Amino acid sequence: MAPCYCRLRRVLICVCTPCISLALLFVYITVMLCMAMNGTTTSGTAVQGLDAVHFVASGNNPKTFWALHQHGDAFWNRLQRTLDNHFNPILRPNNTKRGFENGTFNESLLAQGFSEVINLDSTRRNFDQLPQQIQEFISHMQRRDYPALLQPDGVCGAGTKETKEAPLLLLAIKSTGQNFLNRLAIRRTWGQAGWVAGPKRNGNGGEGGGYVRRVFLLGKESTEDRGVNALLQMESKQYGDILQWDFKDTFFNLTLKDVLFWSWFKRSCSRTRFVFKGDDDVFVNTPKMISYLRDQLKKPQAHKTLRDFMVGDVIAAAVPIRFNESKYFMPDSFYKGFYPMYAGGGGVVYSGLLAKRLHDMSKRLNLFPIDDVYVGMCMVRLNAQPVHHPAFLTFDFPNKEEEELCSYHTILLVHKRSPDEVVKLWVHVKKTQAQCWDVPLREANK
Ligand SMILES: *[C@@H]1O[C@H](CO)[C@@H](O)[C@H](O)[C@H]1NC(C)=O
Ligand SMILES: *[C@@H]1O[C@H](CO)[C@@H](O)[C@H](O)[C@H]1NC(C)=O
Ligand SMILES: *[C@@H]1O[C@H](CO)[C@@H](O)[C@H](O)[C@H]1NC(C)=O
Ligand SMILES: *[C@@H]1O[C@H](CO)[C@@H](O)[C@H](O)[C@H]1NC(C)=O
Repeated sequence: MAPCYCRLRRVLICVCTPCISLALLFVYITVMLCMAMNGTTTSGTAVQGLDAVHFVASGNNPKTFWALHQHGDAFWNRLQRTLDNHFNPILRPNNTKRGFENGTFNESLLAQGFSEVINLDSTRRNFDQLPQQIQEFISHMQRRDYPALLQPDGVCGAGTKETKEAPLLLLAIKSTGQNFLNRLAIRRTWGQAGWVAGPKRNGNGGEGGGYVRRVFLLGKESTEDRGVNALLQMESKQYGDILQWDFKDTFFNLTLKDVLFWSWFKRSCSRTRFVFKGDDDVFVNTPKMISYLRDQLKKPQAHKTLRDFMVGDVIAAAVPIRFNESKYFMPDSFYKGFYPMYAGGGGVVYSGLLAKRLHDMSKRLNLFPIDDVYVGMCMVRLNAQPVHHPAFLTFDFPNKEEEELCSYHTILLVHKRSPDEVVKLWVHVKKTQAQCWDVPLREANK
């Protein structure tokens, strides 16, 4: 019996010892990993109120974002990879901390990365083959410090009489010099500044409203036009809602409007709860928007969720357009890979808190020619996701729904509408207010 028992014990020892060792090793690794990860999160938290500088793209299939740049040989990807590596919070926690504190630090870093990439043989060889407007973009993409030519006097746009309550919504509308009629229509309709009531049956919107402010974002006309300039100056004087910078107002310069707007917002408007950033050819149901935003403020945990709050018509995993006749054409020698999730289509709403975080993050991101995509890229690096809402209608109403009496009370935004249509729609919305005041916003698959 004894030998047999011994053998059994030997077998047991042989089998179990490695198992136990492995189990212990596993526990050890898990504990170490947890500690390392916690350490990273805390180092993010210390960053001047910019906690959680996560560098992981969320979603069903999370990837660290430096892994997103597998296609490193395209110009923009290469440029950004040096920055992303520099601010990688796991590899270089000290840089991540320092970067937000010292703005000049990032500028010199951006410039250094740029001169390295632009002087590569492969870049020089390819540059002449790039389309004209990409070449133009590259030649100027390092500069962001364009001075303001016209701006509201030290305050946050039109509608800035001192208010007890923080303004609820700032309408920041991209416009161009010639679109005078669009601005006129917007000021008289959905873009009225001051107190705006939410939808109420009898029209007096007691506590359901909020203060609205308005600013138009412009660059310079490509061809110097005295008439347009004089008109803009008059508008600026009369309405105090023009914010114009000294750069050419071209399609590939639109990202500058976001970056410079954030910087102005942080200086002049930082108390504002929400920002609408959109085009001047859309119709917005402002009373509905006000009540929708009021609801967001009332939600439990609002102070937390508002840090990341962005809502609009969200496009996930878009691919760059490789067809060279399109205005969105993006050659793959300039950018490779998917676009990040982004909110597009004429208008997006985000919290004032997020605007300030986007401002900080934008200092770590090279400009990208398409503005919506650029905002999406900043969001990825903030580990924040835009929320899709079907009441943002990029492609108009389906079928004949528009003809229903209350159709415009079910939406927050519709693209595109001419100035004349905007005025007619506003009259219609006011007229049907009593009948339609409680219809809900559109939902998915309606
Ligand atoms: C990071 O900063 C800490 C203190 O702020 C310092 O002790 C440490 O040496 C730094 N690490 C590197 C790699 O510079
Ligand atoms: C920012 O960093 C640069 C270079 O590291 C340094 O020369 C400059 O003094 C810093 N500025 C501030 C305000 O800390
Ligand atoms: C952007 O604006 C600058 C300054 O006016 C101009 O030189 C540049 O050509 C513009 N970029 C593009 C892509 O149009
Ligand atoms: C677009 O590409 C085709 C060939 O791929 C070329 O012949 C044409 O000139 C290009 N058009 C523009 C506007 O660059």
